[in-house]
Amino acid sequence: MTDSLIRPGKFFIKTYGCQMNFSESEIITGLLFREGYTPASNISDADLIILNTCTVRDTAANKIIGKLGELKRMKAGNPSLIIGVGGCFAQAECDYLRRRAPFVDFIFGTHNKFHLMELLTRVREKRALDDYETVYDTTLRDESVFDSGCTVHSNPGVAWIPIMQGCDNYCSYCIVPYVRGREISRPSREIINQISHLTKRGYKEVILLGQNVNSYGKRFSDLSEEPKSFPGLLRKIILIDGIERIRFITSHPKDFSDELLDLFTSEEKICNSLHLPVQSGSNRILKLMKRQYTREYYLDLVTRLRSKVPGLSLSTDIIVGFPGETEDDFLDTVDLVTRVRYEQGYMFRFSIRTGTEAEGLPGHLSEEEKKSRLRHLMEIQDKITEEESRNYSGKTLRVLVDGFDFKKNGEHLKGRSDSNKIVIFDGPESLIGEMVNVKIDSTTPYTLFGKVV
Ligand code: SAH
Ligand code: SF4
Ligand code: F3S
Repeated sequence: MTDSLIRPGKFFIKTYGCQMNFSESEIITGLLFREGYTPASNISDADLIILNTCTVRDTAANKIIGKLGELKRMKAGNPSLIIGVGGCFAQAECDYLRRRAPFVDFIFGTHNKFHLMELLTRVREKRALDDYETVYDTTLRDESVFDSGCTVHSNPGVAWIPIMQGCDNYCSYCIVPYVRGREISRPSREIINQISHLTKRGYKEVILLGQNVNSYGKRFSDLSEEPKSFPGLLRKIILIDGIERIRFITSHPKDFSDELLDLFTSEEKICNSLHLPVQSGSNRILKLMKRQYTREYYLDLVTRLRSKVPGLSLSTDIIVGFPGETEDDFLDTVDLVTRVRYEQGYMFRFSIRTGTEAEGLPGHLSEEEKKSRLRHLMEIQDKITEEESRNYSGKTLRVLVDGFDFKKNGEHLKGRSDSNKIVIFDGPESLIGEMVNVKIDSTTPYTLFGKVV
């Protein structure tokens, strides 16, 4: 029997997708540490490889399929390697994986990460009997989706905090409700406890995570907790000693209440950057997407936010080429983008997800048409991003330093401004985890460069 079968070894986690997945990989890391596993310096050094997967678009799913091909070859050269696949692709495609990737040892869904050790034990027991059949657990069980206190936070100073997961919105294009399950909120005392502990270790910023954070508090994983509102939770977090910055992602425009708007615009600790996915600028397409707001509502929300927070930095997600999207619908999106002037836009070509409502809608566009519209929109957004970035030149920004930047000619420090821009500058290592003022002297679209003042 090889070593990897009888004792913990080195692990490597490869994460795909959104911050929720990255945050869950921090929890998985904590679970593995607790069992005595140590991190491998690279994937080829690992005894245990875990892919934490995404399936939000076909491009995301294809990346996983490509990686599985690589892992199959690694396994052929090293049969004692243990391979696990978890997260959203695993949730959606468990049967596919069992059929087409039998070299995968275990599969766990989006609600099953806390059962990882049981799965690993089963893999070991089966191997001892020369049984290599894949073990799996993809049951959606609400009670065990959140942190159990073992998270290994990967950033100094900034911590991701899951506050809810799942989604009940069923936007017609989206697979997330199917793979993440019903919307469920994490008990507020767990959230407050986790953040309070982190501040004692010097953490100054938290990023609250959920598919739709604005609707936090409707139903809890702990059935004894009474319904609460997202602003109610924010008020409690603001009171925690040591917390200097709060961000949250993602906000659904339809759930951005007046109460949240008042808190967002008046509270210093809540950062002046907001990710507010619009998806389309056409009312007809928004309706087909089941987004439950109009472009007028969205633009009015932006105006109300900006009137109270001058300099608010907005980012968004947009889908181009939704079924039935006409040239006029597309031009409505272009118009909205030029009006709002997002500092950053994440723009995607519509991708058919099996089982979603949009799959069955008439008027699917050709890939060529979708690509061409996407290219056009991205060119417009790139120009806006560059111009908005240039506006930071000469300004002094408060930056939370989160580590080194090794990419540009040598070693520099890097951090984020209140408005969520990456800022690079020189300084001693002791500044990591601290707030500093940086005067910006040059800019690129996504990065600002400056000097500590
Ligand atoms: N909960 C978030 C986003 C989740 S998915 C929200 O409500 O905004 C992240 C982004 O992926 C979405 O905002 C959307 O722009 C994009 N997306 C989701 N499904 C898609 C699909 N089928 N094709 C293309 N893009 C998609
Ligand atoms: Fe998907 Fe819509 Fe839910 Fe966001 S709100 S996760 S886009 S269904
Ligand atoms: Fe992808 Fe799942 Fe996030 S599908 S975007 S990893 S919720």
